[in-house]
Amino acid sequence: MSLEPRTPAAANGVVSEEPKRPAFVSPSPRLRLNPNNDHNPDNYDDMQLDFSPEIFTSLERYLPASMLGKPRYDKFKFMREILLKYFPPGERNRVQKHREYRQKIISNYQPLHRGLYSMQPAATFVTAFLKAVSENTEESFRRIMSEPSPGIFTFEMFQPRFCELLLSEVEHFENWVNEAKFKIMRPNTMNKYGAVLDDFGLETMLDKLVESFIRPISKVFYPEVGGATLDSHHGFVVEYGDNRDVDLGFHVDDSEVTLNVCLGKQFSGGELYFRGTRCDKHVNSGSQSEEIFDYAHVPGYAVLHRGRHRHGARATTSGHRINLILWCRSSVFREMKKYQKDFSSWCGECLLEKKERQRKSIAATKQELLRRDGESAL
Ligand SMILES: [Fe+2]
Ligand SMILES: [Zn+2]
Repeated sequence: MSLEPRTPAAANGVVSEEPKRPAFVSPSPRLRLNPNNDHNPDNYDDMQLDFSPEIFTSLERYLPASMLGKPRYDKFKFMREILLKYFPPGERNRVQKHREYRQKIISNYQPLHRGLYSMQPAATFVTAFLKAVSENTEESFRRIMSEPSPGIFTFEMFQPRFCELLLSEVEHFENWVNEAKFKIMRPNTMNKYGAVLDDFGLETMLDKLVESFIRPISKVFYPEVGGATLDSHHGFVVEYGDNRDVDLGFHVDDSEVTLNVCLGKQFSGGELYFRGTRCDKHVNSGSQSEEIFDYAHVPGYAVLHRGRHRHGARATTSGHRINLILWCRSSVFREMKKYQKDFSSWCGECLLEKKERQRKSIAATKQELLRRDGESAL
């Protein structure tokens, strides 16, 4: 099943089919499949926008050549139209309601550790991670990461002190929720416990986390799923153990790239199991033996994987486990997906099908050559 978040932020996950057009009608200009890296995009910071100015700047590299020379406002209108398709009126209404919900929490909740609410790299990350990101090369990332199964990266990320502070902040927030009898939205349809960090003030800090620390890494390891253009996120904590959720069924995330960091505390069980990356069409297909991979959480350590990498969590058999989950999304990738043909290079099943087609075509060619040989020998 697909794990759907409860927040309207997921609205941009809706991808509709492009209607078929008759060949003689000239279609409206389409986005490019690959970014034009020679193009220097305009800056949209000063404009009144319903979307982050950065989205416009990054989307601009994908504009068709005919649009690039146009005035900034024309480009803005063109891109806005594309982006608005993700927010039909019903969704926009939900977004507005959710904004009010967040505002209500933020104006009533008194944070415990204010320092957490702005990004302070030196107090957040372990030194090796900071160094690797500042060097910003594939080698520097590989030095601190292991890739125990293709597309799954694990590495030490958060300092123990940061995990402690975040855990106590989450606990403090939950106590406030209980005392104030405030009804909160849970992170998604599959978790009954846990909290959305973006809802109580951590959105800006997590934005920074994605922009300055996750995107540089996903740009290198996941370029084919929008890793270079991550521009929004859904950040939450999940809680497992006694009086909490026990396990989590097999699913895919509503993200391009997911960061999952164990914050603690003491627990046993709770392993993640992975079963290969799949496109929408193949999400329920079987797994190859080489796709089977299990991972045991270690506090402070992160797992990074594609959202479409199928996974689940085994039962946390004792203790209490809390993980920070960051679903990172790319609006550009979601738009581009519409123009792609019926094949995904990152889907294990699509790749198998492609190999099978090639095998058949080679076999047919051989057969044909043998037949001709046989004929000429007669
Ligand atoms: Fe997940
Ligand atoms: Zn596929």
